[in-house]
Amino acid sequence: MFTATSTLRSIALEEPATIRVFERYRLDYCCGGNRPLHEVCSENGIATEKLLAALTAATVNAPVTRDLSRVTLAELIHRIVETHHVYVRSELIRLQPMAQRVATKHGPVHPEVSLIERDLLQLGDELLFHLHKEERILFPYIEALERSCETGGAVPGSQFGSVQSPIQAMLHEHESAAALLEEMRTRSDGFVPPPDACPTYVGLYHGLKAFERDLHRHVHLENNLLFPRAIALEKEISVAQ
Ligand SMILES: [Fe+2]
Ligand SMILES: [Fe+2]
Repeated sequence: MFTATSTLRSIALEEPATIRVFERYRLDYCCGGNRPLHEVCSENGIATEKLLAALTAATVNAPVTRDLSRVTLAELIHRIVETHHVYVRSELIRLQPMAQRVATKHGPVHPEVSLIERDLLQLGDELLFHLHKEERILFPYIEALERSCETGGAVPGSQFGSVQSPIQAMLHEHESAAALLEEMRTRSDGFVPPPDACPTYVGLYHGLKAFERDLHRHVHLENNLLFPRAIALEKEISVAQ
């Protein structure tokens, strides 16, 4: 059970239903989630007891979900790719033309939408390359590591040395994507469309907000679950040799 000294990251891992509460309070359980709850509360002017109560309430009657900390790494990777990578690709295809239309129509009155269009193009370029590297290089290596562990084999060969090297690169790219979305959030006052927004404008901001939420969940599974387990597995195999 979690307490005021638990880190946001560990609470989100132990009870994924609490993620909704962290999202509601706009607290980072993901890249910057390795901090105790009480510290984050005092920094953000939130009563620790109140947040603890909300987190506990979220876990009561939460639908029973698969405990992802216990599935195989291959299953976890499958889940990440099928849920989050598919979502990122399909939403980019949908949102980028919307941003272009909104910028063309509303850019003269709302210059921030032109900047958001530019940010979204950059985010798309970065993320598509990032997903490609995960799917073609890092994830196959992690799956090979798991197979080696099961069969008592050696650490698989790679061009990058330790798995920590590509993981460091992925962590850095996660931060860059999160920063771009944060920039879009700031430019749009929290993805709130102006009163004169057309339906496409409203749909764009709604889509970007959902995209940000999905990215946080996606990165949480990689940074806090998949990557630490892969690093530990590589060490375990190296020691056994
Ligand atoms: Fe990913
Ligand atoms: Fe990633």
